[in-house]
Amino acid sequence: MQRFKGKAVIVTGGGSGIGRATSLAFASEGANVIVADIGEKSGLETVAIILQFGGSAQFIATDVSKVDSVNAMVDASVAALGKLDVYFSNAGIIDGFAPCEQTSDELWHRIININLAGCFYGARAALPHLAKTKGNIVMTSSIAGLGAMAGGTAYTASKYGVVGLINQIACECAAQGVRVNGVAPGPVATNMLADAPEGLDVEAWIKAVTPMGRFGKPEEIALPVLFLASDDASFITGTLLRVDGGWRSK
Ligand SMILES: NC(=O)c1ccc[n+]([C@@H]2O[C@H](COP(=O)([O-])OP(=O)(O)OC[C@H]3O[C@@H](n4cnc5c(N)ncnc54)[C@H](O)[C@@H]3O)[C@@H](O)[C@H]2O)c1
Repeated sequence: MQRFKGKAVIVTGGGSGIGRATSLAFASEGANVIVADIGEKSGLETVAIILQFGGSAQFIATDVSKVDSVNAMVDASVAALGKLDVYFSNAGIIDGFAPCEQTSDELWHRIININLAGCFYGARAALPHLAKTKGNIVMTSSIAGLGAMAGGTAYTASKYGVVGLINQIACECAAQGVRVNGVAPGPVATNMLADAPEGLDVEAWIKAVTPMGRFGKPEEIALPVLFLASDDASFITGTLLRVDGGWRSK
């Protein structure tokens, strides 16, 4: 399938995990991908993989928690590709499952600035360009955006906030032909799991809480993201698609 042939796509957090898998999936369907990540080495690796299979990608160093960095990245992307069709707002970090009383001001602000403000800065910068192409935004929330105990206090608050952004901006922009949706991944085997609380047997826990009894693969999040970003989802906006092995069905 070449659903994104010639489309200009930005993926934040494209250097690793879900972002890398989604960058590869967009590129394999013909998109010109901007890999925006704070990690230069990992971002350039994603680009190298895409170039190796004949796809099109560029790396732009970006810190999504810094408004100037996000604005500059969107400007540079549009300058390089001439337009913007899809903004996948995916960069995020976890809080080590810190409960409220153990959440320092520093941790709170770091999580909110990256996971929530990053999505806001990205949407605000991308929207004028997406209005021209009737493009769309996909954001990565989480099962932590739908209930407790899939992260700590700051992480859960940030991911609930992302759901709010999806609904609000979807309604604001529908008349311009811009769609805004999100995915809520369950547990996915990525670098993020390295931040699980000490002493927690992650494998056993995931097996116990996930009806499908396993981690998702990054590719299993990427394909639902591509669906939401594609014309196959032309009547879908303001939707949060759970991709969680059944976790939030319980
Ligand atoms: N892995 C899971 O189980 C899981 C579950 C639900 C939701 N998520 C969400 O999926 C998204 C991707 O996470 P992942 O699991 O692929 O983790 P990951 O750690 O593999 O990838 C995250 C990427 O974001 C980048 N990043 C971090 N801070 C950044 C910043 N300030 N600016 C730009 N880039 C930054 C990292 O360098 C990294 O490349 C996150 O939003 C995360 O909250 C993950």
